[in-house]
Amino acid sequence: MNEVVVIYQSKYGAAKKYAEWIAEALGADLFERRKIAPEKMMEYDTVIYGGGIYAGGIAGISLIGKNYERIKGKNIILFTCGLANTKVEENVKHIREGMEKALPKELMKQAKLYHFRGYMDYSKLTSVHKLMMKMMNNMIVKKPENEKTSEDREFIATYGKAVDFTDQSSIGELVEQYKKYHKVNPN
Ligand SMILES: Cc1cc2nc3c(=O)[nH]c(=O)nc-3n(C[C@H](O)[C@H](O)[C@H](O)COP(=O)(O)O)c2cc1C
Repeated sequence: MNEVVVIYQSKYGAAKKYAEWIAEALGADLFERRKIAPEKMMEYDTVIYGGGIYAGGIAGISLIGKNYERIKGKNIILFTCGLANTKVEENVKHIREGMEKALPKELMKQAKLYHFRGYMDYSKLTSVHKLMMKMMNNMIVKKPENEKTSEDREFIATYGKAVDFTDQSSIGELVEQYKKYHKVNPN
């Protein structure tokens, strides 16, 4: 049995790309969220979950939130994949606030969190997503200049375009931390 599993939910493929890079680097089993039964997570020592960010929420993260009691003794690593610049502290704080709303406090304290950047091609969005983005844009452009956050400015700068911020090297810290954990906790 493998010791580590990577599970992901991805609408346009960006979180999938990170999940594949991580699974390859760690020699982990890889599952799309809807293809893994929650009880299967029990078989692993380390559970890694990642999903795209949609309106501040992490796609599919309820798999971890709802099953926390089953997996609380494990090494839990969560990653997010969104457009916002994760080098900006305020943006990371915002992502974490979104996670706090969906996950038990204890899990947020225990889990190791990583935030990666994804991509978006407006021409390929579903009509519902296009509409959501249009509504967001209308709301943001109306804000007075001094009330716009750095996330708002990034949103305006990328609105309607095709942008790709995916970066394989950004998984380095996660991979190193897992390797350190595994050295101290070999099976
Ligand atoms: C409707 C919609 C809402 C989004 N909301 C956010 C958001 O709140 N924060 C963010 O950083 N990115 C947001 N994004 C960008 C996605 O997170 C980004 O495109 C990511 O790469 C998607 O990952 P996936 O292809 O694996 O699903 C949003 C995208 C769409 C279409």
